[in-house]
Amino acid sequence: MADQVAAQLENVSVQDSKPQVEPQAQKITPWDVEGATVNGQQVAIDYDKLINDFGTKKIDKELLERFEKVTGWKPHPLLRRGSFFSHRELDVILTRYEQKKPFYLYTGRGPSSDSMHLGHLIPFLFTKWLQDVFDVPLVIQLTDDEKFLFKPNLKIEQVKEFSFKNARDIIACGFKLEKTFIFSDLDYVGGPFYHNVVRIARCITANQSKGTFGFNDSDNVGKFHFVSIQAAPSFSNSFPQIFGDRSDIPCLIPCAIDQDPYFRQTRDVAVKLKYPKPCLIHAKFIPALQGSQTKMSASNEMSSIYMHDTPNQIKNKINKHAFSGGQETMEEQRRLGGNPDVDVSFQYMLFFVDDDAEMDQLAKDYRSGALLTGELKKKCIAVIQKIVGDFQERKSKVTDDMVRAFMDPTRKIDSSAPEPGSTAHLQQSAGKETVA
Ligand code: TRP
Repeated sequence: MADQVAAQLENVSVQDSKPQVEPQAQKITPWDVEGATVNGQQVAIDYDKLINDFGTKKIDKELLERFEKVTGWKPHPLLRRGSFFSHRELDVILTRYEQKKPFYLYTGRGPSSDSMHLGHLIPFLFTKWLQDVFDVPLVIQLTDDEKFLFKPNLKIEQVKEFSFKNARDIIACGFKLEKTFIFSDLDYVGGPFYHNVVRIARCITANQSKGTFGFNDSDNVGKFHFVSIQAAPSFSNSFPQIFGDRSDIPCLIPCAIDQDPYFRQTRDVAVKLKYPKPCLIHAKFIPALQGSQTKMSASNEMSSIYMHDTPNQIKNKINKHAFSGGQETMEEQRRLGGNPDVDVSFQYMLFFVDDDAEMDQLAKDYRSGALLTGELKKKCIAVIQKIVGDFQERKSKVTDDMVRAFMDPTRKIDSSAPEPGSTAHLQQSAGKETVA
């Protein structure tokens, strides 16, 4: 299945029109994330190639400057250091914000287990920041139906339980109840949401679903159809308790780049249904502890920092497993220096440490050999322990009743457009998700 998708991506790629000598191209699909193999060695994911293959746009300096000018917020480290690196029409959303026209945020999670790791949390931490900046409604889709269709071993009861448990983790990121609706597909799909599902389904042929996702005729029909369900929250009239019957309010979708195929399809359908196209902002994957060839994966315990890990587990994992860009011995490190660009501890710190001057200094000292791998790891451990510790503290305060309140489909949510720049004074306190 993934091979087919990769082969298909080759066809649309601008760069790869000549025959490839590489034994294996990189594979990035909603189900598979692997860097290419060159001379028998797996290499880091090539994100520029993905921008080309998928036909998205790079988030450049000009766009970041405009973001800061329009919102009054200094872009989050995840944004200005390129972890959120690609977009579709983010500029359209900024213009709407400037013009005081309403829009909303939409993101989601496929609840496949009850333990979330740092890689799962990053899009949510970033979405929480976007909600602080824009002060607009946010809908969060828990695709328990997707996990049921794609994982033959899971039972309905299990995926529903994962939804409820994951909702607690998501709420612990700090979302505002007054502006946030979290829903499980298995519970919420019906009414106006389902009207959109069938409108969408009628616009997508089996051939298109196969072409976009690489399914074959042995895959169950639910998989072919699932795109209609992930597409539906992109359209505002799926949420009457927020937008009434208005169908003209666009959304911005923060997601990892592997989800883009769903929304490419959604954008095509939007045109046919005369709805606004969803706009997107795409993240890179947080590297596995072992390095940037692949992402943190729930199926490989040693590749990931879990949100329930203890300070000691975090320390041991980073010390034992975090790929180092340093030299073998202290003497060599002093003499030759290390490479922060491939060093996983340094990369993790880039995601969370707000202070640019501090990060520049660390990179310089690591390159020169003034800073040893052990010292760098120690700093990274402290940063991750704080991120995870703060999260655990917030999570301990999320009660079942709170989860039910976030997931209440009858609750009215105000969708009026905010005053541009009106949240800028809050950025000091919002900076708490990062470590100074
Ligand atoms: N399919 C996604 C997953 O498996 C879940 C999801 C649904 C999602 N809607 C989304 C992710 C919108 C990002 C944005 O994780």
